[in-house]
Amino acid sequence: MAIVIISDFASPEPWIKALKEADPKVEVLLHTDLTDYTNVKFALAWNHPPGIFMQFPNLKTISSMGAGVDHLLKDPDIPAHINIVRIIDPRLSQDMFEFALAVIMSRMKNLLHFRENQHQKVWKKKRYLRMDQVKIGVMGTGVIGHHVASNLQRVGFHVLGWSRSEGQPTAYKKYFGQEQLEEFLKNTDILICLLPLTPDTRGILNKNTLCMLPAGAWVVNLGRGPLLVDEDLINLLDIGHLAGANLDVFHKEPLTEDHPFWLHSKVHITPHVASLTDPESVAPQIIENYRRTLQNQPLLNLVDRKKGY
Ligand code: GLV
Repeated sequence: MAIVIISDFASPEPWIKALKEADPKVEVLLHTDLTDYTNVKFALAWNHPPGIFMQFPNLKTISSMGAGVDHLLKDPDIPAHINIVRIIDPRLSQDMFEFALAVIMSRMKNLLHFRENQHQKVWKKKRYLRMDQVKIGVMGTGVIGHHVASNLQRVGFHVLGWSRSEGQPTAYKKYFGQEQLEEFLKNTDILICLLPLTPDTRGILNKNTLCMLPAGAWVVNLGRGPLLVDEDLINLLDIGHLAGANLDVFHKEPLTEDHPFWLHSKVHITPHVASLTDPESVAPQIIENYRRTLQNQPLLNLVDRKKGY
C-alpha cells in the first residue's frame, strides 16, 4: 500500500521528501513508476492526465495537492464513490494574505507607475492613497478569503466580503448572494477575487459585474483564470473605467504567448505564485487522510463535489 503521486510537476522530490519525513513508514510512489494499479487506494494529484483514475479499480481517495479542486472536478471520469479532499493550510492562507497586501500596497503607493516612469527617466510626483481611503472587497470568503479579509481589516483597511451564501457572522461587512453582489461591487475600490471555480462562478467577473465597480477601481484575480472574462476586463481597462489589474491566474497556464494581457500597460501578471502549497507544511494532513482512508474513517477537508469546493 502506498501514496501515489499523479502530477505534472517536473520535480516531485520535495513532496516525496516531505511525506517521508512526516511518516518514514509510508511508501510514496510516482504513478509513472507503477506496474500494479490494483493496489492503490490513495492518490495525491495535481493536473493529472484526464481519465487516469479509471485505471485504479480500488482507489478510494484523491487528495488535491492544493486548495483548489477544479483540476479534479473537471474530469468526468472520476467515479462518484471516490472521495476528493483538498488542502486547508494556515500557511497557504497567510501567504495569500501577504500577497494580496503586497499588491494592494503597490497599487496605493503607485509603485508600478513609478517603475514605468523609471524606464523613461521621468521624475514626476504622484499622490498616493492611504489605507483609510480605499475599500477592499474580498470576493469569496471561504477559508483563504476569510483569512485575507480579516487580516486586511486587522492592519487597518476598510474591508467588505462577498460570498454565495450567508455563512458565519464576520467582523467585516459581508454581502452574499446574487442580490447583494451589486451593492458589494459598488462599494469596492480594490477587488480581490478568491472564489473557487465552479459552474456558478465561471465568468462571474464580466462586463456587467465589472461595470458595477466604481470608476478607477482595480481588479486582482488570485482565484482561478476562468472566473474572469478576459475581453471584458481589457475593454473596461481600455475605456478607462478600470484603472488596472493584477492577475495571477489565467484560463490557460502558462499564459499563451499571443495573449493581449502580456503587453497591456494596465495589466500586471504573475505566474500563479500568490500562494504555493508548501509540501512540508501539508504533509501531515495528507498522511492523516491516507491513514483514515485505509481505516475507513471520515476524512479531513472532504470536498462537496456538488458545490465544487
Ligand atoms: C493553488 O492554486 C491552489 O489551489 O492551491
